Amino acid sequence: MRKPLVAGNWKMHNTLEEGRTLIAGIKAGHVPDGKVEVLVCPPFTLLYPLSTELEGTDIKLGAQNVYCEEKGAFTGEISPVMLKAAGCSYVIIGHSERRHVLGELGDLLHRKVRVALAAGVDVIYCLGETLEQREAHRTEAVVEQQFTEALGDDVDPRRVVLAYEPVWAIGTGLTATPEQAQAVHAFLRAKAMGIWGREASDNLRILYGGSVKADNAASLMTCPDVDGALVGGACLRAESFLAIVGAAADSV
Ligand code: 13P
Repeated sequence: MRKPLVAGNWKMHNTLEEGRTLIAGIKAGHVPDGKVEVLVCPPFTLLYPLSTELEGTDIKLGAQNVYCEEKGAFTGEISPVMLKAAGCSYVIIGHSERRHVLGELGDLLHRKVRVALAAGVDVIYCLGETLEQREAHRTEAVVEQQFTEALGDDVDPRRVVLAYEPVWAIGTGLTATPEQAQAVHAFLRAKAMGIWGREASDNLRILYGGSVKADNAASLMTCPDVDGALVGGACLRAESFLAIVGAAADSV
């Protein structure tokens, strides 16, 4: 039985004061029932102060990015050891905005995954096709390549979560239909089985991301291979984020 994970990717939003207000709203409305894992991923500068706000709750903290070295002369970068020390349990790697806006490629992502895991930070690895790639019927080939370029049998699958985020659905208001999401998630689980075996692939959580909202979360979560959500815009308001957490709990 996979426990759903609902993760809020704040992206480049919120000052510390705004972040504190959002966390207070999430804490006020969140009733821990053990059914869903809840994660917030604020910008780097908010991680440590918000970790103190989350003490004593079951809400976990994650980062949106990491560098592929433990320490050194890498001006402007943040290491996984620093994330761990700031209270992070997870880091998002391979988000499409980092692939497409910042130009991150497979070799870098491969290194990031390993250095994050070595530092004790679990990985949410994102993959997904562009609209052009979907229309050219290349979705499976694209996500397969993204999977194998960064993950492999040297990675502990118990410390990895996949997030299928079709690029055409991110921030656009267009959501994959439950059928579209389920098809890609099932494909990814089959790939995972080929690398890690059945037990690990059965336990692997695969999140959907891309315009997940309070009103479409329930139908996505009913898909057998959708194990939660990676939420962008709708995680910036406590009410909509909590509604998505509630939809995940109801799907269990
Ligand atoms: P939106 O929910 O705003 O489409 O963003 C999805 C996303 O990129 C989460 O990582």
